[in-house]
Amino acid sequence: MAKIPPGVGPRFPQVVVLVGATGDLARRKLLPGLFHLCSAGFIPGCRIIGVSLDEMDAEGFRKSARGALDEFSSRKVLPADWDAFAATLDYVPLSAGAPALKEAVERAEQSLGVPECRRLHYLSVPPSAALSVVRTLGEAGLVERSRIIMEKPFGTDLASAVSLNRQLHEVFEEEQIFRIDHFLGKEPAQNILAFRFANGLFEPIWNRNFIDHVQIDVPETLGLGKRAGFYEQTGAYRDMVVTHLFQILAFMAMEPPTALEPAPISEEKNKVFRSMLPVSPADVVRGQYSGYRSEEGVDPDSDTETFVALKCHIDNWRWAGVPFYLRTGKRMEQGQRIISIAFREPPKSMFPANSGVAAQGPDHLTFDLADASKMSLSFYGKRPGPGMRLDKLSLQFAMHDTGLVGEVLEAYERLILDAMRGDRTLFTTAEGIERLWQVSTPLLEAPPPVRLYAPGSWGPKPVHQLIAPHAWRLPFERAWRDPNKSG
Ligand code: BG6
Repeated sequence: MAKIPPGVGPRFPQVVVLVGATGDLARRKLLPGLFHLCSAGFIPGCRIIGVSLDEMDAEGFRKSARGALDEFSSRKVLPADWDAFAATLDYVPLSAGAPALKEAVERAEQSLGVPECRRLHYLSVPPSAALSVVRTLGEAGLVERSRIIMEKPFGTDLASAVSLNRQLHEVFEEEQIFRIDHFLGKEPAQNILAFRFANGLFEPIWNRNFIDHVQIDVPETLGLGKRAGFYEQTGAYRDMVVTHLFQILAFMAMEPPTALEPAPISEEKNKVFRSMLPVSPADVVRGQYSGYRSEEGVDPDSDTETFVALKCHIDNWRWAGVPFYLRTGKRMEQGQRIISIAFREPPKSMFPANSGVAAQGPDHLTFDLADASKMSLSFYGKRPGPGMRLDKLSLQFAMHDTGLVGEVLEAYERLILDAMRGDRTLFTTAEGIERLWQVSTPLLEAPPPVRLYAPGSWGPKPVHQLIAPHAWRLPFERAWRDPNKSG
């Protein structure tokens, strides 16, 4: 196993209180992620206490965790690693209350045998349940030596986010609170900063003089799975846009921070959010896939959107007049996470008629936010032979080509590790989140009606009018080059 470089993991052993331990996120991401961090040696000692509404004991939780790893771990679960991990797991049902939780944490700390161990409370619960869990942690006296990770969405609108922040601060200090947005933990999201600010070729053209528009497009083929209860209250806008897509937009649009540290990065991101114009309902298309209303746990008259596309504007010196188009939805034709930047087109009159100049749209820089990222830069070039015929060509980079792809930490792993180390660089702030709810208010107060779309499609028809005269980049006219194939 590769040796973990010093300083990457936390200094102290950790007791993780995982609330929502049998839920979808814990099973898909958090338990597999914690398993990898523990078995790869990132954490110098760890105990995990599962907490949820389910009545079960520690043995039951171990079984449930094993099932989650078998189903969702992207890495092989070796028997010795599993035995070691299983020994770290304990369980307290929420109904047992604060005293039982306190006792379990103290037991875990004693077993680690180090007085300075730290506590990490991970709240993987819907916004409506977050506060009562925070109070239970307070009552149990588990605030000291602790950090708390709060899952998104943080609140459901401006008033609830402000109230959640206020009540959270009655129990935890701001430095203890880590509001997670896992898109910021994705390797390619951080690469946006590297790409933008480390390259003399691109840094000077990253503005309205050279960029025509930007698309952030995250269609998903996934449906709701077992999340109808959560999704019905949330919908695509709260689940994905006000959270992940706006955070990515901030990385795309922010000014260079003075350092890659929490305060300067938050300051620049928050300036972008402050410059965003309120989201106008006229610039939004909401959709719902046919059949959603007859799914288990969904209201037969549900108005929840499973798809949303919008146009937004950042009214500052760098971006005024450059529209940002955002789209995401469930049960769409393809699952992708794409940012594409369309450059302004040059004059074309010098090229002969029928040369093909501009025939395939503007030049694009495209980022794929998959864990093993890809990037592509498209441009016109001359087709070999007589005369001047132009073809659209592209330069492409795939992380797979580097041989470093095995080093990629999954987004949640990276962020859990950062929280254990107390590093807030990739976490969101109360101010930023409140501002995003504020710009969302006109939409939340007067949402346009949901329009049906066929499962497996690209969303309802008006989505094309929203972006006209441009077009959504997906589906691509050209495929990504497959790095595993030659040629
Ligand atoms: C989650 C949303 O935060 O992000 C899900 O709640 C969504 O609805 C998921 O499917 C997408 O994340 P990823 O990392 O799979 O792109």
